[in-house]
Amino acid sequence: MRRKLAAGNWKMNGTSANLAQIEALKDAHVGALSEILIAPPTSLLHRASVVAENGPVALAAQDCHKGESGAHTGDVSADMLKDAGATYVILGHSERRADHDEHDEDVRAKARGALKAGLRVIICMGEELEEREADNTLDIIAGQLAGSIPDDIDGENLVVAYEPIWAIGTGKVPSVAQITEVHDFIRARLEHRFGLKIARAVRLLYGGSVKASNATEIFAIENVDGALVGGASLKAEDFSPIITALDKS
Ligand code: PGA
Repeated sequence: MRRKLAAGNWKMNGTSANLAQIEALKDAHVGALSEILIAPPTSLLHRASVVAENGPVALAAQDCHKGESGAHTGDVSADMLKDAGATYVILGHSERRADHDEHDEDVRAKARGALKAGLRVIICMGEELEEREADNTLDIIAGQLAGSIPDDIDGENLVVAYEPIWAIGTGKVPSVAQITEVHDFIRARLEHRFGLKIARAVRLLYGGSVKASNATEIFAIENVDGALVGGASLKAEDFSPIITALDKS
């Protein structure tokens, strides 16, 4: 059985004062059925991991360098993130792809580095609005799956997040039928490439304007194993009901 996963991506938000949000989640979700993840900015990672210690909240990083160490000013390796308390790393988020010109091959190289360091990877993908309108969504997803996911995954160390770019931070959410179609497609492609056993172990998250008010409907979809949440993960009072909805799904 796949354990459900509620992952909060704080993006470039949060200073010391925001650690109280992790404390609040920790207290509110003792014994949660779902796995709970917060990806704070790198500057808070270690302190967040100290706050979260011995509780239900684990930590993720938002990106990593593909290499182990070396002359790369400003970059952070997967080993370093693990040392700072991360157990997961988010890779290939559309904001990284857009702001830093990251392509599938970069995401794949980073994922290989992260897996080697012993981190689990959350690999993000999704189509632009024009691509959906041109009926190209599944082709785009097929390309991103083939290009971004490395060969050496065991299923449990991979999470795939489907995040339509037009749904991120916009309040727009695809229909249940649209999410179902893409998630079923991703599961089928993973099975084709990695076999049934591995494909069944991979968690598939939906991301893009998930809120307490739409979470229950999204979590009822068979191949949705949780969510990657941006804006609504910044405050415990907003993220908590999403976690509870996932626990109940
Ligand atoms: P959002 O962001 O929940 O604010 O739409 C989702 C994401 O970018 O992962």
